[in-house]
Parts: sequence; structure tokens; C-alpha cells
Amino acid sequence: MKSHLLTTTTTLTALAATSLALPQPNTLPHPKTLAERASLLTTTNPSNRTLDEIISSWDLTNLTLAAVRIPPVNWPLPMMNKDWDGVKLDLNGTVDLGIRLIEKAAAEKARVIHFPEVWFPGYPKGVINSETPNPWFEYHVKDYIENSLVVGSTNWNKLVQAAIDNSIYVGLSFSEKDTAHLYMAQSLISPDGEILIHRHKLRPSAQERDLWTDGKLDQIYAVSTPIGRIGMLSCGEHTSPEVTFLMQAQTEDIHLGSWPLTPDFGNETLTYESAEVITSLGRVYAILGDSIVVQASIGTATIFPAGSSAVWSQTVANVSFEEFPLVYRSFNATAFTNTTYNADGEVSWGTLQAVNQGFPEYIPQVQGGLVPWHEDFLGGLVGEEVD
Ligand SMILES: *[C@@H]1O[C@H](CO)[C@@H](O)[C@H](O)[C@H]1NC(C)=O
Ligand SMILES: *[C@@H]1O[C@H](CO)[C@@H](O)[C@H](O)[C@H]1NC(C)=O
Ligand SMILES: *[C@@H]1O[C@H](CO)[C@@H](O)[C@H](O)[C@H]1NC(C)=O
Ligand SMILES: *[C@@H]1O[C@H](CO)[C@@H](O)[C@H](O)[C@H]1NC(C)=O
Ligand SMILES: *[C@@H]1O[C@H](CO)[C@@H](O)[C@H](O)[C@H]1NC(C)=O
Ligand SMILES: *[C@@H]1O[C@H](CO)[C@@H](O)[C@H](O)[C@H]1NC(C)=O
Ligand SMILES: *[C@@H]1O[C@H](CO)[C@@H](O)[C@H](O)[C@H]1NC(C)=O
Repeated sequence: MKSHLLTTTTTLTALAATSLALPQPNTLPHPKTLAERASLLTTTNPSNRTLDEIISSWDLTNLTLAAVRIPPVNWPLPMMNKDWDGVKLDLNGTVDLGIRLIEKAAAEKARVIHFPEVWFPGYPKGVINSETPNPWFEYHVKDYIENSLVVGSTNWNKLVQAAIDNSIYVGLSFSEKDTAHLYMAQSLISPDGEILIHRHKLRPSAQERDLWTDGKLDQIYAVSTPIGRIGMLSCGEHTSPEVTFLMQAQTEDIHLGSWPLTPDFGNETLTYESAEVITSLGRVYAILGDSIVVQASIGTATIFPAGSSAVWSQTVANVSFEEFPLVYRSFNATAFTNTTYNADGEVSWGTLQAVNQGFPEYIPQVQGGLVPWHEDFLGGLVGEEVD
């Protein structure tokens, strides 16, 4: 019922031959993405103020960021419960809740709000590591496809409009549906409605790969804004060295990281789903990337200051969602560097050469099964025959 496409090995020889050659510098900003981004702006009521006019009323010495921690509509609770029996996904309701959160964050004078992984319409708990064969697919995949967000749709436009109406940067994380695939998508919408980032998680993790199609390397980019440089990554991407390297080489001031759910600390039966492991990933990213990390996640959500700070802002999972749907922290944005690279840093073009040069010769130059681009067709997901 799922399409398991054979991965290709044709590019292996070419890759092996060039693995020690200097990498091609990537252009900035990505021209294709820029044109693509312009075409994503489809609101009918655009901002009547320029971005400069909007930002000029902000106190940049006290820039407030907000991470969402409340679940989307109808998402099964308690936290580690993965039973979707009788649960109906509700993208429309979730978009309306998302807009209320955007309004609430803006009312608290937050200038950036960021959502957990595929919060629109909700992370399908149980897709990873549930029973085999995965009953989630059997019962819920059609509903999930129907409730995935289409860029340019009424729901998409409502979210862009909310960013404009509330003069706030909105970091979205959503299951995106195009004509053929689903993606684990992220977008950054600016307060004047421009789509600054639109990307797909490079490699959905484990069984996520049976549902969502892979993204592309050129979707790993940071953007310069009047409040500093901002980049986005999703959950398991924070454990992929090539993803973190490409992003951190672009020196973010603010990193928007989306995770699906983070329970309370102290559950020793959990591994990668534990608060201990998930928050470690956010903290290490803040140190190595020298970047603020906004770790949006249902339950325990955290905002880490840039660098090796031992003090962060966190609300743990057993705190009321209704009372505390968001975690806030304020920073002095006039201290941000807003630079595009650090030639002398630990994540630089120079250190990339060292990785290439020092890569042990005894390791065969084969690409392996993880890296080749993987796609799942919508038809295959719902059980139609796929060649
Ligand atoms: C322009 O924006 C202001 C404040 O955001 C709003 O009150 C006003 O109605 C808008 N005007 C138009 C014509 O959209
Ligand atoms: C700990 O995690 C397990 C596995 O998901 C779950 O069944 C259990 O309810 C969790 N315990 C608590 C106290 O949340
Ligand atoms: C969601 O809202 C759209 C209008 O934006 C409507 O056409 C659609 O029927 C709604 N879906 C559900 C399941 O209510
Ligand atoms: C910074 O902004 C936040 C959110 O508006 C506010 O609660 C806080 O008091 C401000 N801090 C300072 C030092 O102005
Ligand atoms: C960051 O860079 C952008 C693009 O060069 C610029 O428009 C913006 O004003 C800069 N922001 C800061 C805080 O320096
Ligand atoms: C909530 O979780 C924290 C640790 O994450 C724990 O210290 C605290 O006792 C818990 N509170 C309740 C009421 O369970
Ligand atoms: C903000 O940072 C700038 C640049 O580092 C510094 O000059 C200024 O004093 C800081 N302002 C506050 C309120 O911390």
C-alpha cells in the first residue's frame, strides 16, 4: 500500500570522483527560491505599510520571540498517547487556533512566533515506532492527506494575512500537499506578508519517510532581515551533520527549530522522544551555531540564548496549555551581527575543506542508502498501484 521506490545508484561514480574536489559555492539568496517565494504571496489584502515602517515602531533592544507549545485541534492527549481511534484531524480549526495564537503573541508584543513540527494539521503520533504493520496508515492516511495544507489555499492565505494583520514574523511548520506529494514544510512569513523561507525537511526521519517526500539541499538557507538573520530546521535535521553544517555556515542570529512533541523530563523509558535528548539538541545547536534557538514543541518548549549560556526559558509539559500556550523570551537584537558567514568560525568553508581532506581513505566512497532523494506519491499512499 505504500510506494517503496528503488533508490538510484547511477550518481555514485560521479560523486566518488569529485568527493575531494572543492565544493561549488552556493549562490545567495537562492535565485530559484526567490522567484518561487514571490509566487507564494497570494493574499488579497496586502500590508499598507512597508517593512521599514512596521519595524520602526519596534524596540529592537527588547525583541520578544514566542514558541508555541499547545497542541493543534483534536490532537490526542496525554502526551505519549498515540491512539488515534475516533480522532478527526481538523486543519480548518487548527488554522483558526493558529491565528488566535498569532494574535495572542502579537498582543504580548512578540515580534516572532514559531510553531512545532507539522503543527498544521498535527504530528501523526505513532507513525514512527508503532505496531507493524503500521495501522496509522491503514486508518488515517486519507484524512491526513485531506488535512494537509496547500500553499496558496484559503487556509494558507489566512495565515499570511494573520502575519500582516498582527505585524509579526510567523514561522510555520506544516504538512504540505502539492499535486503529487506531501512534504514536512516550513515557511517564514514576514510582517508585510513576504514569504521569506519556504522549505521541505531534507530527509523525514525513519518511518516519516513512508509518508513525506524528501526536500532538497538548496532549501537549507538563512535570510537576512531587519531583526537579524533567521533560519529554520525541523526535528531530526538537527542530528544530520550536513544539514546543520550547511545552515550554521550561514550564521543565523535566530534559529527556528520545530519538534513535534516533548514530554516532561524523567521518563526513563523514552529515548529520542525524551525531553532530555530533545532539549540537548536545541542547546548544542545554540552553542555550535552561536544562535538563539527557538525550540517550538508540543509540551516542553524552550528558547535558548545564543552560545554557551546556562540560562534558558522553558515551560515543561505538565503546565496547563490553556494558561500558557506560548513560551516567550526577549533579546537585544541590536547586538545581532546579521552577517552571512564567519570565515574564521568552526563551521566555515575552511573547515569543510578539512572534513574533505581528513575523511579516512579506508572508508569506501559509496553514497549509501540514506542520501538518495526519496519520494512517496499521494496515489501510492492511499493504496493505488504505483510503478
Ligand atoms: C492600513 O493599516 C492600518 C493599521 O494597520 C489600518 O488601521 C487601516 O485600516 C489600513 N488601511 C487600509 C486601506 O487597508
Ligand atoms: C513514559 O513513556 C512511555 C512510552 O511512551 C509512556 O507509555 C508513559 O506513559 C510515559 N510515562 C509518563 C509518566 O508520562
Ligand atoms: C474547511 O474550510 C473550507 C473553506 O475555507 C471549506 O470549503 C471546507 O469544507 C472546510 N472543511 C471542512 C472539513 O469543514
Ligand atoms: C521586553 O518586552 C517584553 C514583552 O513586551 C516585556 O514584557 C518586557 O518587560 C520588556 N523588557 C524591557 C526591559 O523593556
Ligand atoms: C540585515 O541585513 C539586511 C539585508 O542586508 C538589512 O536589510 C537589515 O537592515 C540588516 N539588519 C540589521 C539588524 O543589521
Ligand atoms: C512537572 O514536571 C516537572 C519536571 O519536568 C516536575 O519537576 C514536576 O514535579 C511535575 N509536576 C507535576 C504536577 O507533575
Ligand atoms: C544592546 O546592544 C547594543 C550593541 O551591543 C548595546 O550598545 C546596547 O547598550 C544594548 N542595549 C541594551 C538595552 O541592552
